[in-house]
Amino acid sequence: MKVIGICGSPRKGNTEWMLRKLLEGVAKAGIDTELILLRERDIKACDGCLSCEAGGKERKGVCSIQDDMQQIYPRLIKADGLAFGTPVYFEMLSGLLKGFMDRTCPIWPRLELKPIVGIAVAEESTGRVIHNLRTYASVCGMRWVGHVTALAKTPKQVSNDRGVERRLAMLARKLIDALMT
Ligand SMILES: Cc1cc2nc3c(=O)[nH]c(=O)nc-3n(C[C@H](O)[C@H](O)[C@H](O)COP(=O)(O)O)c2cc1C
Repeated sequence: MKVIGICGSPRKGNTEWMLRKLLEGVAKAGIDTELILLRERDIKACDGCLSCEAGGKERKGVCSIQDDMQQIYPRLIKADGLAFGTPVYFEMLSGLLKGFMDRTCPIWPRLELKPIVGIAVAEESTGRVIHNLRTYASVCGMRWVGHVTALAKTPKQVSNDRGVERRLAMLARKLIDALMT
């Protein structure tokens, strides 16, 4: 079994720390984990060509843009569970994560029924971010397992918050349970 974390922060900060803690908890159950840092990948914006949808029900599911998403698609399809993490920008998810979500257009039907958790961190208000993440999960027909939000501003701030660490450990256990059912 494998869980893939997707980090939508453009810096090495709170979101990455939270995702790493969550994945550590998941790994304790002997489950493989991988963290994809979107900021280190060459992922271009969706150009809206919709060639990935050509063919109707028998859609091609192939993206015409040649970049790192080509290696990421098969890993997403194979993954048993996903964890999406984002900093809160203007009370929404980051552009980096949204850009990634748009690029899943060729394969989103193949994410159906996979369990997914959300992680978000804001300086003072998480706004609509969990709604944003849940909307994506719902459109893809994924199973929403839960989320952890935190308040922090500077990159290492959240690592001092024992409460967040505990909630991440609990979310990891919920995700493990969801993987087994
Ligand atoms: C462009 C931008 C927009 C932001 N918008 C908000 C916001 O609407 N509400 C908020 O509470 N914090 C906001 N913040 C603060 C970040 O959410 C906060 O610094 C968070 O810790 C960043 O997470 P990271 O360390 O994982 O990058 C914003 C930061 C940036 C750079």
